[in-house]
Amino acid sequence: MAKVKKGERLPINQSRKFILSDKTQFVIKEAYKTARANLVFSMATCESKVVIVTSCAPAEGKSTNCLNMAITMAETGASVLLIDGDMRKPVQHSLLKLDNKKGLSSILGGITSDIGKAVKKGVRSNLDVLTSGPIPPNPAELLSGKRMAELLEIVANHYDYVFIDTPPVTVVTDAFLMNEIVAGIVFVVKEGSTTHVEINEALQKAKMMNAKVLGMIKVNCDYKGKSGYSSYKYKYNYDYKNN
Ligand SMILES: Nc1ncnc2c1ncn2[C@@H]1O[C@H](COP(=O)(O)OP(=O)(O)OP(=O)(O)O)[C@@H](O)[C@H]1O
Ligand SMILES: [Mg+2]
Repeated sequence: MAKVKKGERLPINQSRKFILSDKTQFVIKEAYKTARANLVFSMATCESKVVIVTSCAPAEGKSTNCLNMAITMAETGASVLLIDGDMRKPVQHSLLKLDNKKGLSSILGGITSDIGKAVKKGVRSNLDVLTSGPIPPNPAELLSGKRMAELLEIVANHYDYVFIDTPPVTVVTDAFLMNEIVAGIVFVVKEGSTTHVEINEALQKAKMMNAKVLGMIKVNCDYKGKSGYSSYKYKYNYDYKNN
């Protein structure tokens, strides 16, 4: 697969190839397992097991990697819920080919109160998914509202881990609106795309908003020659960082 350029989005059928499956190369699966181990380690002292996944800029791989982290966590036998909290550009339903008539926005907007019915069960082994629902006019208001806090309290009691996909932080502040009730934030950074300036800006914003940064996942790396596996073009790093 060729490397993806800054801001570039592949057609959805090509994007699905990044989702972990039986066909995924061993080295990539292992890298996600390392990321999982580091994430568990960095969350060890956190009361909440709710993780926000975001990035500095658009199209850096948040949604794909949020899903892959949820899949990797579910593989341990832990029960995992993935929430598509990007109610501006939701893609989890498209990536996973799920119906999106009901979802997060339906619950937060008071259209449905039955969380159990809105959640898609067993999308993968131990993995349930709450898709975004129809795009609402006020996503930030909904994410920072009382209903979101109540929803997270309910699902956190039901699942071992909850992963929330969100929009990029240099564009909107949605990822920071749940700081009080989540363990922290994982940033996805894309080699050849995310700049140091963007990373600094995002980390400064996180600090300003009192958000805990759990770590970073680097994607789209070409590590030809470094490992001897010259055919593998992708590397996933997980660097532990405190803000
Ligand atoms: N590990 C990866 N390596 C290279 N490209 C990737 C990787 N994961 C996803 N991509 C590609 O990057 C593009 C953006 O992916 P994705 O939708 O996951 O990003 P995003 O940050 O959630 O985007 P948005 O800002 O629109 O929410 C897609 O075309 C996807 O195929
Ligand atoms: Mg996305």
